[in-house]
Amino acid sequence: MTKEEATQSVRVDLGARSYDIHIGTRLLEDAGALLAPILTRKKTVIVTDDNVAKAQTPRLTAGLERADIAFDTVVLPAGEETKNFAQLEFLTRRLIEFGVERGDMIIALGGGVIGDLTGFAAAVLRRGCRFAQAPTTLLAQVDSSVGGKTAINVPEGKNLIGAFHQPAMVIADIAALDTLPTREVRAGYAEVVKYGAINDAPFFAWLEKNVGAVMNGDGAARIRAVKTSCEAKAAIVAADEREAGERALLNLGHTFGHAFEAAYGYSSDLLHGEAVALGMALAFDYSARKGLCAPADAERVKAHLRAASLPADIADLPANPKIDAAGLAALMMQDKKVVGGKLTLILADAVGAARIVKDADVADIETFLKEKIAAARRS
Ligand code: NAD
Ligand code: GLY
Repeated sequence: MTKEEATQSVRVDLGARSYDIHIGTRLLEDAGALLAPILTRKKTVIVTDDNVAKAQTPRLTAGLERADIAFDTVVLPAGEETKNFAQLEFLTRRLIEFGVERGDMIIALGGGVIGDLTGFAAAVLRRGCRFAQAPTTLLAQVDSSVGGKTAINVPEGKNLIGAFHQPAMVIADIAALDTLPTREVRAGYAEVVKYGAINDAPFFAWLEKNVGAVMNGDGAARIRAVKTSCEAKAAIVAADEREAGERALLNLGHTFGHAFEAAYGYSSDLLHGEAVALGMALAFDYSARKGLCAPADAERVKAHLRAASLPADIADLPANPKIDAAGLAALMMQDKKVVGGKLTLILADAVGAARIVKDADVADIETFLKEKIAAARRS
């Protein structure tokens, strides 16, 4: 193993709630040894989904057995629908049946769905239990497992019921990505690009050169991409855990993206990361239209998203005759960053220089979207 591929650690500095993110290869087999020093007793529960149960859980259970840590397992159905009240009830009651105490560790082994649901269950069970994140998608390794946002969905909207609850440890084993479908790797890559676009132009330039290596499974490139992303997220979360200010930057591309995700019914036609990619492209195009960034910056972001086979234009999405500008603008107004009826949008002055714009002009955004949709229909 090269030095670059050796385990790396990033600290999320939150006082008494600080924790380490461990990033490396074959870490699931070492999970028992990593967790043992922070366990109150040698007993845990693994929460996972049925895809990950087949592809990755045996590696984690072997790692726990090697450290003499007993475990129970809860396997939930894979997919976004699992982040619901019924599964929250099922999971929390199973955890009670297993005798989970406040000081015990619950392990979320999976993508953002399992991480968000398990984190929320841990937040509310006995008014707060400990949990560790063992993310198995690129999206979860660079974003959802870090920072303590946990939630479930309701028919009224995504992630509307949740809590801030930080994990006690994050174990990001990039070998887990070996079984992840390529489309899911691409979707997670959109969140990696986001960190370069927000405030790290040298990282963006590194990604432009290394997109092939990251996408094709080069271990050192993946570790560097995950580590740099986690460092960026850890710094922002440490400065603004509850999103009173700069944490909103992490939503670059998300306000446009969420509207498209909702318009596609949160279906597999448009994955979250794909929506974020399109949303970033639109945020840069809109920034250029408002004279904030140079048009060349918007073109550069879109060229890089296309190099990763991610959508950079509405024309890149599956055809959807129901998409209309007024509907999308209304969906954008459902964003959690709407305050007093005013929309906060993340725009950019340049690649690597995102900014928070309060009181964005929704009518102007609707006109922009109308033009974009018309152009996509002509192409
Ligand atoms: P996901 O959890 O649905 O995983 C995607 C698919 O990959 C699923 O079918 C899963 O079973 C499968 N899978 C996972 N790991 C695998 C592996 N190693 N091998 C084979 N298959 C594997 O989706 P996701 O993209 O990881 O997460 C999306 C969720 O994350 C959304 O609900 C979103 O709201 C949430 N999210 C939360 C935050 C946060 O800060 N909490 C941030 C971003 C996204
Ligand atoms: N994914 C956005 C955040 O964690 O704030």
